Amino acid sequence: MPADADLDAVIKAGIRDIPDFPSEGVLFKDITPLLADPVSLRTVVAALAGPHRAGGVDAVVGLEARGFILAAPVALELDAGFVPVRKAGKLPAETYRESYHLEYGTATVEMHVDAIAPGDRVLIVDDVLATGGTGRAAVDLVRKAGGTVVGFSVLLELGFLSGRGKLTDVDVSALTAA
Ligand code: PRP
Ligand code: MG
Repeated sequence: MPADADLDAVIKAGIRDIPDFPSEGVLFKDITPLLADPVSLRTVVAALAGPHRAGGVDAVVGLEARGFILAAPVALELDAGFVPVRKAGKLPAETYRESYHLEYGTATVEMHVDAIAPGDRVLIVDDVLATGGTGRAAVDLVRKAGGTVVGFSVLLELGFLSGRGKLTDVDVSALTAA
């Protein structure tokens, strides 16, 4: 595991800026170069799991779609199960639902009601924390199921969007920030 400064450099080297994607004026943070590099991918997964190794995590919740990529290997690292939070209409069994505001309109995410048992210790993992709407919805879903959220961990935090402001009741950690 590299020191923090090295980790920061590894991550920043693996993220490229794509201007005007998906719409004009947006600078998209593309993590696919990082994911394609085996050493970087392993380093990032280990860094996300590290603080929780002794934390008795029962389940790692991943947020569709990009959060899935990181959450499943983090779950393996922690000897925990993987639970998907999906966009509305994708999960087949009974679900809890949470809606949140986007710049235009709203989005809804769901989690199976039986995915988490009351009292389970749950780590939520996503790739990016931006406005915090996705993370907020995920935290509320886990709590609806009776789970204890031990953390919300992301690869990259876009600090200028102030997402942490929506998550003041959660232990938020980001491996790097922009
Ligand atoms: C992106 C990103 C985070 C979320 C962060 O997901 O992967 O999940 O936005 O934004 P927020 O903090 O403002 O909610 P997106 O819904 O674009 O789709 P994807 O993961 O399916 O690509
Ligand atoms: Mg996402």
